[in-house]
Amino acid sequence: MNLGYIDRFAKSLIREAGHKIRISFYSQIDVESKAEANDLVTNIDKEVERFFIERIRENFPEHKIFGEEGFGDRIETLDGVVWLLDPIDGTMNFVHQKRNFAISLGIYQDGVGMLGYIYDVMADDFYHAVKGEGAYFNDERLPLLEVTPLEQAVIGINASWVVPNRRVEHEPLIELVAKCRGTRSYGSAAIELAYVASGRIDAYVSMRLAPWDIAGGMVIAQEVGAVTTNLRGETPHLLGTDTFIVARPGLHDDMLRHYIRLK
Ligand code: IPD
Ligand code: CA
Ligand code: CA
Repeated sequence: MNLGYIDRFAKSLIREAGHKIRISFYSQIDVESKAEANDLVTNIDKEVERFFIERIRENFPEHKIFGEEGFGDRIETLDGVVWLLDPIDGTMNFVHQKRNFAISLGIYQDGVGMLGYIYDVMADDFYHAVKGEGAYFNDERLPLLEVTPLEQAVIGINASWVVPNRRVEHEPLIELVAKCRGTRSYGSAAIELAYVASGRIDAYVSMRLAPWDIAGGMVIAQEVGAVTTNLRGETPHLLGTDTFIVARPGLHDDMLRHYIRLK
């Protein structure tokens, strides 16, 4: 696998897709909801995924593509080279705010994350990593994350997990929210992962994420020493939805041990 070549190709594809998304605001955007009213998809999510697939297939016919909108391959294993793509992560923000959404892409070889990209399209902020070669924010190398105690930590968490819900005990999470320095919720798992990797927040936790939400961000986060697991402390398998946490090393352990109890 020629990582340098694929890296240059992926970066230029992502920038071109970002341009397509930005100019889409000058045309009509059709919004549909999927299974639930808060699960949105637009014609732009679909067009951008098709654009990626066409270009990847032209250049790397032997690679497989696992994309949110389903135009790629049916993926049952991560054998070979697989591109895990979310054409727009944060579609609700795309529709409601016209900002705070990202293109998220991870390129895995036999299940190992080799290349990771998160492009915050409207901020023009580009995060990327090559396995073993460090993570970068707009081409500046990100430093390794240091340990931060919970009292000084800003935690990315959605308020819906801190009220009674069917997935996780909310009482310990109330305690977590009370004890940490502050909480944030950006509405794009990819951006939240990028923020942990770049030290803007110290942890991000979610009860339900898909492989394409986290595949790119995991490569970036791991390069700066962040810990990425599901909420049972296992490595995410990236073949279906699961719980997820990314955090600075000591904080990851503290949060899993003391504040997260799955139902
Ligand atoms: C969603 C966003 C959101 C997260 C949801 C995801 P989408 O992705 O990442 O922050 O809470 O679970 O599904 O649907 O906008 O690509
Ligand atoms: Ca997503
Ligand atoms: Ca999406």
